[in-house]
Amino acid sequence: MAVSAALLCLAVLANPLQEQGQRVQPVASSAGMVVSQEALASGVGAAILRRGGNAIDAAVATAFALGVTLPQAGNLGGGGFLLFWHGPQRRAYALNFRERAPRRATAQMFLNGAGDVDRAKATRSLLSTAVPGSVAGLLAAQERFGRLSRQEVLTPAIELAERGFPVYPELAASLRQAAPQLQSDPTAKRLFFRIDSAPVTPGGRGSTGVRFYRVGEILRQPQLGATLRLISHQGAAGFYRGRLAQQLEALMAKGGGLIDRKDLAAYTAPWVEPVRGSFRGLTVLSMPPPSSGGVTLVQLLNLLEPFDLALAGLNSASTIHTMVEAMNLAYRDRNSELGDPDQMTIPVERLTSKAYAESLRPLIRSDRHTPSAQLAGLAPLPSNSTNTTHLSVADRQGSLVALTTTLNFAYGNGIAVPGAGFLLNNEMDDFTAKPGVANAYGLVQGERNAIAPGRRPLSSMAPTLVLNAEGSPWLATGSPGGSRIITTVLQVLLNRILHGLNLASAVLAPRVHSQLWPDQLSLEEGISPDTQRLLEARGHQLLRTAAMGSANSVELLPAGGSLGVADPRRPEGAAVPERP
Ligand code: DON
Repeated sequence: MAVSAALLCLAVLANPLQEQGQRVQPVASSAGMVVSQEALASGVGAAILRRGGNAIDAAVATAFALGVTLPQAGNLGGGGFLLFWHGPQRRAYALNFRERAPRRATAQMFLNGAGDVDRAKATRSLLSTAVPGSVAGLLAAQERFGRLSRQEVLTPAIELAERGFPVYPELAASLRQAAPQLQSDPTAKRLFFRIDSAPVTPGGRGSTGVRFYRVGEILRQPQLGATLRLISHQGAAGFYRGRLAQQLEALMAKGGGLIDRKDLAAYTAPWVEPVRGSFRGLTVLSMPPPSSGGVTLVQLLNLLEPFDLALAGLNSASTIHTMVEAMNLAYRDRNSELGDPDQMTIPVERLTSKAYAESLRPLIRSDRHTPSAQLAGLAPLPSNSTNTTHLSVADRQGSLVALTTTLNFAYGNGIAVPGAGFLLNNEMDDFTAKPGVANAYGLVQGERNAIAPGRRPLSSMAPTLVLNAEGSPWLATGSPGGSRIITTVLQVLLNRILHGLNLASAVLAPRVHSQLWPDQLSLEEGISPDTQRLLEARGHQLLRTAAMGSANSVELLPAGGSLGVADPRRPEGAAVPERP
C-alpha cells in the first residue's frame, strides 16, 4: 500500500503536465513567483524579482507592502515566522520574529477579581499587545540574505502609503465590519475612515462627518509612510529606539499598557533550525517552537504516513475520519507540551519522531471516533476570524520563502500608535490566560504556555517548505486561520502529494478541521451529505463552518520556472509571476 502511494507521489512530482486536465490551474511563470493576500503587494514582490532581487528581497518588500495595503493582517505592529530555502547554498533557515511578552507581564494579568479571564483585557486593551517583532524580523532576513538595499525593498511600501491606493471591495467591507472597534480608538478612526469637514454654516459651527471609504477611493497613510521612511533610513533602530519607541511607550503609559522603551530595545528575532520531518520520501521543513506549526504538522504527517488515504479517496468519510482522529491526538500534545524554547526544554525530537507516532497510532480506531473526553482537556468554539496572512515566493535561483505574519485578530486590538500610523497586535491572547480556559481560537492550553516576562506566546503559524525525493526545493505553503493553520497546511500537502491534485486543486479542495476541543469536526461546504452521514455514524459531531485558512502557495518546476496559487477563499489575493 505504501509502495503504490509512493509511486503515485513520484508520478505527481515528475510529471506536472499530467495535472493539466484539472478544473483549476495554478498561475505559471518561466521564472519566479510571488503569492500573497493582496494583489498590489504581490505585484511589489514580483517587480523586486524583475529588478534582480532574490526571494528574500521579494518576500520582505511584499510583507512591508502588505503592512500598507492589507491593514487587517499585514503589519508593523505584529510578528511572525519565516522559512527560507537558500537555493545557491542548498540549505534551509528559519527566523523567529514572534512577539514577546513585556518584562512586567505576569501569569495572572488577564484574570479579574473572581479569578476569571477578562476577555476584553486579553484581546482589546493595550495589555493585549506583545512587543512587536515584524520590523526586526523582516530587516534581519533582508540584511542577511537580501541582494538589494534596505531602501530598495522599502520604497514600494513607502510609495503605497504616501501616494495611497484605491480601496478594493474586500478592504471596504472589512473596514465597515471592524468599524465599531476601530472607531472607538481616535487614532485608528482617523487612519481608516473618511473624515469630511462640512462647510461652516452661517450662525453655526462646522460639523465633521465620519464615513466609510468607498470602493475605488484612495486610502493615503502619510504617518505610516513617515514611519516606513524612518525604518528605511535607520533600520531596526528607527522602530525600536528613538522617536517611535517614545511614542509607543507614551501610549502604553497613558493607556495602562506595559511595553516600555527597554522592552523595545531588548527585542531580538533569532535564526533557528527548522523542524524537519519526512513523508513518503519527501522532506518537510517547518517552524519550530514557539510555533506549534512545525511540530504538530510533522507529528500529523508521521501519524498518517502508513494509511492509504489515496486509495480511500480525497475527502471520503474514511479519509476524513482518519485525519481527524490524528488531528485530535496531535493537538493534545500541542496544547500541553509546547511553549517558548528560550524559557523551557521542549521535547521536539520525541514529538516529531516516527517511533512516537507509532506508539500513538493504535489510538486511531478505524470504525469509531474516539471522544475527546477519553483523550483530555475542555473548551468552547472559536469564531472564524480573517486576519493573519501568508505569502510564498520562488525565485530563479531555486530559493523559496514561506512567510506568515499576524496581528492576531483582524486589525489586532484595534489600537493605533498616535503619530506613527500603525496598529498594535493582541498576541498576548495566544498565551494561556488560565490553564483549561480556551483562548479566541478555542485552544485549551497548559502551564507551559503561561504568560511570563520576555516569553513568546505559542503560535499555530506554519510556514512550510517541502523538498522532493532528491532533496531539491519543491513547494512553499502556509496559511492564516488561528488553530486551523496546521490542519490547512496538512491538507494542502496531502492533496498535492497523495491525492494527485495540482497545486490549485490542492488549495481549493474543501477542508476539515478538528483540534480535540471542542469535540467537533468542522467542515467547509463541499463534503457530500452521504459522506457526512457516514462520519456521523462513526460518532463525529459535525459543524458546517465558514471558509478555513488561505494557503497562498508556490511550487518550483523541475525544468525551471514556477507555479503559484492565491487561495480563492480570500479573493483579494494574487499570484504574480516574475515573467509569463
Ligand atoms: O499565532 C497564532 O497562532 C495566531 N495568533 C494566529 C492568528 C490567525 O491566524 C488568525 N487568522 N485567521
